[in-house]
Amino acid sequence: MAPPRPIRLRITRPDDWHLHLRDGAALATSVPHSARCFRRAIVMPNLQPPVTTVAAAAAYRGRILAAAPAGSGFEPLMTLYLTDELPPAEIDRAAAAPWLAAVKYYPAGTTTNSESGVTAIEETYPTLERMQQLGVPLLMHGEVNRDEIDIFDREAVFIDEILAPLIKRFPELPVVLEHITTREAAEFVAGADVDAKIGATITVHHLLYHRSHMLAGGIRPHLYCLPILKRDSHRAALRAAATSGNPRFFLGTDSAPHPVGDKESACGCAGIYTAPAALELYAEVFDEEQALDRLEAFASFHGADFYGMARNESRIELVRESWEVLECYAFGGETVIPVRAGETIRWKIAG
Ligand code: NCD
Ligand code: ZN
Repeated sequence: MAPPRPIRLRITRPDDWHLHLRDGAALATSVPHSARCFRRAIVMPNLQPPVTTVAAAAAYRGRILAAAPAGSGFEPLMTLYLTDELPPAEIDRAAAAPWLAAVKYYPAGTTTNSESGVTAIEETYPTLERMQQLGVPLLMHGEVNRDEIDIFDREAVFIDEILAPLIKRFPELPVVLEHITTREAAEFVAGADVDAKIGATITVHHLLYHRSHMLAGGIRPHLYCLPILKRDSHRAALRAAATSGNPRFFLGTDSAPHPVGDKESACGCAGIYTAPAALELYAEVFDEEQALDRLEAFASFHGADFYGMARNESRIELVRESWEVLECYAFGGETVIPVRAGETIRWKIAG
């Protein structure tokens, strides 16, 4: 029997384990949107130029904190951008900084600002070795970048060609397969050895949408992201994983704002801006799946446990009440269009 459908939900304050905040004037928009419901966030390093040193991460963290609303307690957890040249010595400095949480792997050329990413994983073995020794997690953008591999297959091929051999070679290295989009990824993570140190983030847009939402009846650039939305059966597998209670799956929005002109363009860039409504939309999904009783663990426990961090103590309340998302937000000197712009959301943060 389905549990009774609640109209209020009080949960431990969640964290966002995969977030793009950008930099400069954009922070005045992006940081308050995330800080309104998330206490901590793993901040992606794909700026231009990328964040490849602990010193650059410290400076970036300072700019984020300066943009956080007073009293929000928002805590940015920074990441380093893995390149072929990132030296093991930088990992020593990273491990010594309590606010530096992980290293991010982008295969060169796969996504926004990934040009400086890894060209061949073997190039990074000495650095990965040091990360394994010091327990610094590796966060992976799980796609291969080869012309002959169809874009809808790039995650599944990545798992076979890169991820599976990598976790064999570095069995003690904590690895997060970021923003999973396929049944293959969900099955790989759930089916890994019991002692494997593997987790996966799941975005709300991959739980809400499939590729026909993006491509049928007109092309919708604001639903274009990477890894790209897959067919509906994959969305169903992700919903099952997120609501399964398996601690390897946790919340990571991959909220990735771009100025509207960069999205609505002949060659529009990848990234969906979900931060203004992220937690509310996860609640919508868990409600549809009759799994609201599992939202707290997915959003507030599993990620902290994976990273070995304390769970948050404060709480947040959601109510089943409709509200309308704004059409756009100021974003530096430009504007950004959020997911569900001008549309209704059925859950709301109370207060
Ligand atoms: C991200 C971005 O815009 O920085 N875009 C996206 O579609 N997810 C990069 C990324 O996480 O791949
Ligand atoms: Zn991302």
